[in-house]
Amino acid sequence: MTAKHAEELNRILLQRAIIYPDSELHGKIAGFYDYGSVGSEIKRRWQDYWRAYFLNMRDNFYEIESTQIMPEKVFKGSGHLDHFFDPVAECSKCGERVRADHILEEMLHETFEGVNAKELSDLIKKNKIRCPKCKGEFKEIETFTLMFPVQIGAGEDIVTGYLRPETAQGPYAAFKREFRANRQKLPLGLAVVGRAYRNEISPRQGVLRTREFSQAELQIFFDPDNLPEVDLKRVKDTKMNVLLAGKKKPVCLTAKQAVTKLKMEDFFLFFLAKTCQFMQIMGFTEKNFRLRQLDDKEKAFYNKYHIDLECYSPSLDKWIEVAGFHYRTDHDLKGHQKVTGEKMEVSYGDGKKCLPHVLELSFGVDRNVYLILDNALTFDESNKRTYLKLPQQVVPFDVGVYPLVKKEGLPKKAREAFNALGMVGFKVFYDETGSIGKRYSRGDEIGVPFGVTVDFDTLEDNTVTVRERDSTKQERVLIEELSNKIWEMKG
Ligand code: GLY
Repeated sequence: MTAKHAEELNRILLQRAIIYPDSELHGKIAGFYDYGSVGSEIKRRWQDYWRAYFLNMRDNFYEIESTQIMPEKVFKGSGHLDHFFDPVAECSKCGERVRADHILEEMLHETFEGVNAKELSDLIKKNKIRCPKCKGEFKEIETFTLMFPVQIGAGEDIVTGYLRPETAQGPYAAFKREFRANRQKLPLGLAVVGRAYRNEISPRQGVLRTREFSQAELQIFFDPDNLPEVDLKRVKDTKMNVLLAGKKKPVCLTAKQAVTKLKMEDFFLFFLAKTCQFMQIMGFTEKNFRLRQLDDKEKAFYNKYHIDLECYSPSLDKWIEVAGFHYRTDHDLKGHQKVTGEKMEVSYGDGKKCLPHVLELSFGVDRNVYLILDNALTFDESNKRTYLKLPQQVVPFDVGVYPLVKKEGLPKKAREAFNALGMVGFKVFYDETGSIGKRYSRGDEIGVPFGVTVDFDTLEDNTVTVRERDSTKQERVLIEELSNKIWEMKG
């Protein structure tokens, strides 16, 4: 099943212009992917929905657009310059370089997050792990910086910057200005949706581990001594499938039950539950979505709470991290304060003072998109077809319009339907090439939820056929009523 699933998904991604390797024509470099004409619509819609959902969770939440190249000092303040390294194992015989923690994970089926280079070296020796290419022995583990340096300017004015390895640093660096501009209120939410870069050593997991990728991250700044009120009642019944730290099996809890199990205050649980609701809207259920609570060894040292959001991948037959829920405390603002000397403490409300703490909701956009596509791929044996059962929020087009044949006035009539649907804001896909069956199949494979066919009866009575992607059921509708009908069917 997995091999067939993976093969079919890969075929659709490449053949239907969803995701493909970058610069293929010139021989491509591992870890860089393009979104094609269909894929970029899916990704854009995911990002638009993410913005609409997370920025509307509460007032005083905004999006900012920070730069992708930032000065070196930012990464001194954030700790990346001193700590953002990957452990690399190099083969003494053939020179192959691999991530030490990843090769151990593959061989021993355990996670090695947070294990230091010396311990990894010992584990490789103890378990007699050899180079996967030539079976040679590995040298001692070395660390390798994950940031891409950038030379800014020319001549004597050259300064060093870096491509940001996460979008989060923009909001931290801009926090005080945004706080002042937005009425000095807490909590304050600052989101960035944009590119980030990591110079991964030999990226092997296709689109799941790339060197250039997109993140959607929301940083919520709040006073830790006066946790903002939240209406937990609104989310108390939200289902959460939780793999508690140290446990092998997840438990299904409601948000209300999770308060005691996760030992979290209502404020944090509210945003965790809202995050789960977002994933549910994106089509995930307890079967293919879970929260993994990291133990003290695995979590980043500055995180007080660290929960990974994981989705099951049918094509890879494993769980993949797609987002993180991180209570980063005052680590970031303190770091920038130390490097710049600028006081990050603020005064808000009726004279309360605090050095704000940060709750970060961090999403890997590309991973989310891939896992949605992976889980949407459906084999419909009775109709001998495969289709993408994409949630409405991320379909690349709302509706496809197809004239039955390319002659006798049908394309002209089909254009009328195309224009009528486009005028009311639907994103419409037009296709008049090949048999109608092939066109339905193309629409199904990119997840277009409705197909509208213009045939000879249309010329007589102005009705068209509307075909629904998942059920393949068809019904006749007047062109004048078409857009209302599609709204109704979208639900
Ligand atoms: N900002 C958190 C991360 O990039 O993982």
